Amino acid sequence: MWDRLITDCNVATMAGSAENPLGIITNAAIGIDGGKIVRVAKRTELAGFRAREVVALDGAWVTPGLIDCHTHLVFGGNRADEHAMRRAGSSYEEIAAAGGGIISSVSQTRAASEAQLLASAKRRLEALAKSGVTCIEVKSGYGLDTETELKMLRVAKSLDGHAGVKVVPTLLALHALPPDMDRKAYVDMVIRETIPMVANEGLAASVDAYCEGIAFTPAEVEAVFTAAQHHGLPVRLHAEQLSNQKGAALAARYKALSADHLEHLDNDGARAMGEAGTVAVLLPAAFYCLRDEQVPPIDLLRKHKVAMAVATDCNPGTSPTLSLTLAMNMATTLFRLSPEEAIMGTTLHAARALGLAHERGTLAPGKMADLCVWNIEQLSELGYWIGLPSPDRRMVAGRDQ
Ligand code: NIG
Ligand code: FE
Repeated sequence: MWDRLITDCNVATMAGSAENPLGIITNAAIGIDGGKIVRVAKRTELAGFRAREVVALDGAWVTPGLIDCHTHLVFGGNRADEHAMRRAGSSYEEIAAAGGGIISSVSQTRAASEAQLLASAKRRLEALAKSGVTCIEVKSGYGLDTETELKMLRVAKSLDGHAGVKVVPTLLALHALPPDMDRKAYVDMVIRETIPMVANEGLAASVDAYCEGIAFTPAEVEAVFTAAQHHGLPVRLHAEQLSNQKGAALAARYKALSADHLEHLDNDGARAMGEAGTVAVLLPAAFYCLRDEQVPPIDLLRKHKVAMAVATDCNPGTSPTLSLTLAMNMATTLFRLSPEEAIMGTTLHAARALGLAHERGTLAPGKMADLCVWNIEQLSELGYWIGLPSPDRRMVAGRDQ
């Protein structure tokens, strides 16, 4: 006897095949037991199975719970003033050079207590959960000293499970150069102090860095990646956002889980990612907010069979959004992803970007019963509505949230 049998639905399992990439099963039923999926099949095939509770969905669509695999959800204050400055003509780089940008969030985050950071991040997480998110990656990176980076990661840890959302924390110490330290001293401190402490306390699942003219050089990133791997932590990289630093190829050399942004990616970088199995995380809301005109080379990613994920990049500077379905719409409208690619990008491929494909991102036996129920007629509506829809039900480990 199973815990739950969900019937009368159309399921996009994401455990697909060449002919049916989204693994769509119409007139389906889903068996759930012990918080996990036990069977997904045509309703008629599950007719003989019993469950303590039967939930009929009246023809709704079911997808895996959405996964937001790139966010900076924890931060103090906000940067609405910079939004206004950019509208008046200042660039992101100019604002950063004048001490604004990431450094402004660093001051506000250092000044905030752990309780304040947790309270504001909880509100944002609740909003993202409303758009269907059941798993989220959360980066540090507004501390830029060991104490505050650890404070942010502790907040991310406390967030885990809030609104039913699984939180996957990432150390992003190489996000910007701290105003009060020289480059070499900072990178050395991250290698000798921050990474070992984070690894010992189990505070992060991976290490990220920002490889960019206004941030860190490929050589600095490599030194930090080497230290991360020494401590058993996989890596990921903000790469090729504003210029081509060959960060994607670097990330691939370190078997990075993902390389993110990628507006200025070239053919060699895409090929290296394809060969290494590094996922491309596309962040169209940051592209939109920066009024960027350089679209990531989606055709190159397709050509080299790089898995594409889509995320909000929720952050106070370049992507103040709390809707993953809006990011899906932007990925289709601005980057010309197909609706199918956008849906895979927030389920299966987002799970891969987090190294969690063994437990999430598809609806298949043995996977977590984290799912969204959408009262839509067509699955492609998920990338079609601008900022809508929200799922009508969200289940985590088979339970309604
Ligand atoms: O992913 N690119 C660097 N990091 C963030 C921006 C963070 C900020 O401006 O606060 C991003 O876009
Ligand atoms: Fe980011």
